[in-house]
Amino acid sequence: MLILGLESSCDETAAALVTGDRRVLAHRLAGQEAAHRPYGGVVPEIAARAHVEALEPLIHAAFADAGVTLADVDAVAATAGPGLIGGVMVGLVTGKALAHAAGKPLVAVNHLEGHALSPRLADPDLDLPYLLLLVSGGHCQLLLVEGVGAYRRLGTTIDDAAGEAFDKTAKILGLGFPGGPAVERAAADGDATAVPLPRPLKGSAEPHFSFAGLKAAVARAAPDHAAADVAASFQQAVVDCLIDRTRRALRIAAGATALVVAGGVAANGAVRGALKGLADEHGLRFVAPPLWLCTDNAAMIAWAGAERFAAGLTDPLDVAARPRWPL
Ligand code: KG4
Ligand code: ZN
Repeated sequence: MLILGLESSCDETAAALVTGDRRVLAHRLAGQEAAHRPYGGVVPEIAARAHVEALEPLIHAAFADAGVTLADVDAVAATAGPGLIGGVMVGLVTGKALAHAAGKPLVAVNHLEGHALSPRLADPDLDLPYLLLLVSGGHCQLLLVEGVGAYRRLGTTIDDAAGEAFDKTAKILGLGFPGGPAVERAAADGDATAVPLPRPLKGSAEPHFSFAGLKAAVARAAPDHAAADVAASFQQAVVDCLIDRTRRALRIAAGATALVVAGGVAANGAVRGALKGLADEHGLRFVAPPLWLCTDNAAMIAWAGAERFAAGLTDPLDVAARPRWPL
């Protein structure tokens, strides 16, 4: 089985070719960081235009890398949401056109399902169900992954996502965009105990998240402290929140065989290290996909498409793009 995957829901344009037996034959990606940097965040209209320019050459390159053509593909999988609607439409309409032209089935993939199933692409030994902490710029959720299309959402953010908090903190500290890696670098030279910051929702019964109060506290504290100390203290506060909420979710995630992390914030060394410790504490496997698979990419969309296609789940060509689409 060979699946073409397309991703364009935020600020990465990507195309990938993945087989049903977990071989990534090609994965191409074009970031848009330079285009958005002057604005300190992703500008939807700029993103949509950039996807239009980037996508077709990426698809051609992916086919060339893999040494296959559209005729060899069994299905076309494209992100149909959630995300910035202009961008989602670029990838979905392209996927529809390719599927229609080649007479192949279309699989409309939920971007979150792509993240949720991506650890199964990287790790054939990962058993169901597993507890997934999905932490990115747009999402912060705890999901019990029970199977394809079977996700139990145990917790979610009531305001900002963790990655968003990293990006805002970087902006406040003048560290640039995207913020996560910049904050992590600055934090390496700082004292994590220097700035007292809140741990929103820590200890509360339901494993939900909140980062708006932390962001506001960073803004208040920043003028009086060294940037490195603010960055280190902020990062520690996020880690404490993620660990406390994930520990809570483990109490209700009956039968979980592993603790899995995905999404851009999973690139953070302090976050990974603390989650590994939590998994060890509970005698669970800890699985973190390789970094390129943690951040937005099309291989995870192709893989989710492969899992759905194998389960007989395809979509009509008039399927709608969805800006909001909870799992
Ligand atoms: O999964 P992703 O590429 O896109 C979304 O679907 O949002 O995640 C991007 C987010 C950004 O907020 C970025 O600042 C954050 O992940 N991020 C990090 C790190 N690398 C990326 N946050 C903390 N530490 C990092 N090293
Ligand atoms: Zn994502």
